[in-house]
Amino acid sequence: MKPAVRMEKIPPYLFLELDRLVERETAQGHDIINLGIGDPDQPTPGWIVEAMKTALDRSANHRYPNYLGSLPFRQAISRMYRTRFGVALDAASETVALIGSKEGIAHMIWAFAGPGDIVLVPDPAYPVYSTQTILSGAEPYLMPLTVDQGFLPNLQAIPNDVRRRATMLWLNYPNNPTGAVAPREFLAEAVAFCRDHDILLCSDAAYAEIGYDGYTAPSVLEIDGAKDVAIEFYSLSKPFNMTGWRIGAAVGNALAVGALGTMKSNIDSGAFTAVQDAAVAALDGNPQAFFGEMNRMYRERRDLAVTALHDMGFQVPLPKSTFYIWFPTPFGLSSAQASRFFVENAQVVVTPGSAYGPQGEGWLRISLTIDTLRLAAGLARMKAAMQSKS
Ligand code: MLT
Repeated sequence: MKPAVRMEKIPPYLFLELDRLVERETAQGHDIINLGIGDPDQPTPGWIVEAMKTALDRSANHRYPNYLGSLPFRQAISRMYRTRFGVALDAASETVALIGSKEGIAHMIWAFAGPGDIVLVPDPAYPVYSTQTILSGAEPYLMPLTVDQGFLPNLQAIPNDVRRRATMLWLNYPNNPTGAVAPREFLAEAVAFCRDHDILLCSDAAYAEIGYDGYTAPSVLEIDGAKDVAIEFYSLSKPFNMTGWRIGAAVGNALAVGALGTMKSNIDSGAFTAVQDAAVAALDGNPQAFFGEMNRMYRERRDLAVTALHDMGFQVPLPKSTFYIWFPTPFGLSSAQASRFFVENAQVVVTPGSAYGPQGEGWLRISLTIDTLRLAAGLARMKAAMQSKS
């Protein structure tokens, strides 16, 4: 018995590996401070949990969900896009519910890419874009994101033969893992590029509700003509502290939404309707005040982390969004060596940048989704470990 050959082409999932590392270290009695995964430490707001309790009592919710999402959920997503981004969506043809946006991203790639095709993927990036491209039989073309270009890909540098074979372009702003944001002019350039080359523009907007110092992220769908070529993945995980609930939506171009729905309905049977009811309460619950509080908390942690890292001698780009801090490795270590150094000498887990692609080599990522005092303790341990080495 052996797994399919395609399984040899993908690595184990980064955060599964890091979970195993934490379990091993904890079993050996080490007090590990985990600054690895971006998984909000705060609870899901009470008004959403209460809506879920009510939804659980509705026996109709215990049956198969609607494959593409309940109409109330799809209408709530459409209402939110209108009020938050000024984007009009037809709930029936331009929205589909997802069991978390990771699922939608994976299935979108299967719906639009296969052998002979190229998928344009940022480097570094959330690993799912590349791994699913490889599994689908298509080829990822890595677009470097470098600090001197503000971590934006240079679309003009993509060779003509690659443009001809490309079926999809992935963008993720606000960006994981770099924390960078994209100006509207860049989004407009990406829309024009995709129109010119008949490419589906996929925007992963998982961090859209996180912003500091007056920054508010736009939707790519705000760009004129974007709906002709673009689909956006909105997740409730990060904005509402709902990573465990698995709920999100893909919205935009009707052909892409339809293809994703066809792919999904042949694989899964939809998101639990009770979770969708709770998500309606989340979206309709005037969340701006809640986001304001959340962003104040993350900004405090961001400032704490950036100050501590400066103190350790790191050059740290100050993120305007996301709860990630992206910074170069110390002592000329590789990402994997530096990550191991902090586990062994500080009992702190930081994510190796190389896990996000070749351009991530030489970088590390810290996530701010941990109690502020614990974050401060982790940073103090990192500083002590660095001082004892130098
Ligand atoms: C991250 O930490 O990059 C994400 O939370 C991981 C994920 O969504 O799987």
